[in-house]
Amino acid sequence: MPTFRAPRGTRDLLPAETPTWTRLERLAADLAARYGYRRIETPMFEQTAVFERGVGEVTDIVEKELFRIAPRTEEAESWSLRPEPTAGIVRAYVQHGMQTWPQPVKLAMTGPMFRYDRPQAGRYRQFWQFDIEAIGDAGAAVDAEIIELGARFYRDAGLAGVEVLLNSIGDAACRPAYVAELTAYYRTHVAELPPLERDRLERNALRLLDSKDPAMAALNAAAPHITDRLCDACAEHFAAVRAHLDALGVPYRLEPGLVRGLDYYTRTAFEYYVRGREGQQQALGGGGRYDGLVELLGGRPTPGIGFGIGLDRLVLALGEGSAATQSDAADPVAVVAGADPDDTVTRLRIATDLRAAGVPARADLARRKLGKQLEGAARDGAHFAIIVGDELDGGEVQLRDLPAGTQKLVAVGDLAREVARAHGAHRHGKDKNEVEA
Ligand code: HAM
Repeated sequence: MPTFRAPRGTRDLLPAETPTWTRLERLAADLAARYGYRRIETPMFEQTAVFERGVGEVTDIVEKELFRIAPRTEEAESWSLRPEPTAGIVRAYVQHGMQTWPQPVKLAMTGPMFRYDRPQAGRYRQFWQFDIEAIGDAGAAVDAEIIELGARFYRDAGLAGVEVLLNSIGDAACRPAYVAELTAYYRTHVAELPPLERDRLERNALRLLDSKDPAMAALNAAAPHITDRLCDACAEHFAAVRAHLDALGVPYRLEPGLVRGLDYYTRTAFEYYVRGREGQQQALGGGGRYDGLVELLGGRPTPGIGFGIGLDRLVLALGEGSAATQSDAADPVAVVAGADPDDTVTRLRIATDLRAAGVPARADLARRKLGKQLEGAARDGAHFAIIVGDELDGGEVQLRDLPAGTQKLVAVGDLAREVARAHGAHRHGKDKNEVEA
């Protein structure tokens, strides 16, 4: 038999890890709702052109990392797995006429993305993003709202020391002159450029600035800064974003070299890092304004801004990768055991009734001796064992409180109420002791 494995660059999230993920997904959903961002889901694959036009043809994501789906027939459209959610969400905005809704349309999504990158720690071929988008508001205030929301997400998730790096990368009015200047700068160093960068120089010089190639670091550090060449409107917008962040008390660091790796950005660009780990590829999250994207994908000119937060990198930074959690939401409160190993019908029926009444319960369905069944109940961390024996003829079963070591007869019809009451009192008592301790 061949040995089957998850594809390179992908991972299985095992039950010891998923409580962390459930917690982060809930936090993302709660924060999004609190800030007025409504959930959207788009397909995990789109027409390839959505990404080529949206993200940009001369980008790592499209040139090197797109998972293209092999067409099944000659005339089939070209599809690709989504490398990021923004292009698909904007495609949906245009397709469903969301420009007629009250603006801005504020949307949130959490789900897997796919990039055919070289796998390493914190870089996967399937990874998860918490994504936020506000489409239809050109003002600087929403930029600050979104940057603050991302910072709060990290804080509420329990990750301290996250820093916001901030820049403005101009717009159609001021960027072309800057790109021409940048191109001229790199031309004078063309002999030092790695092959990919040399190839991109005349097509998209901005991409050289966020190159992952270490050979580019010194060259990029000395490159001209867009921030010194912004037009008045962009400079004004950038100043207003900073003023709003200052007013909210959100700290940030200006990083003139930050241009992001996707072509749709205009003006505000930002990234989140764990302080001291600002190296390439280590961004915990990032985003920015994309005032030309809606038009690029066939809609009316409409501004937009958003972020994508990488959940895999957040989990790594939290150090909760595979930490087994103390108590799991799937632990049973009660385990139904029985003296007759073969009577799985009664055990399953009682557990089913308990679950129908809202009590987390498990029936021991292995045909094994009562002693083994009780050992299993203790191992599961159950509070109660319900023991089916001869008393069943009188409609009763034993209810054993495992930590207390006490036991009493309870009518089967009263079980759910009795278990819920005793479990509630036990938990309440525990909480009280903890508070008093
Ligand atoms: P991005 O910077 O390409 O932006 O990705 C956002 C985050 O996703 C990164 O900061 C990182 O945490 C995570 N990430 C990216 N690639 C990988 C990978 N291969 N493995 C693990 N994590 C990864 C975007 O995707 C934009 N759509 C963000 C945005 C939304 N801009 C405006 N709206």
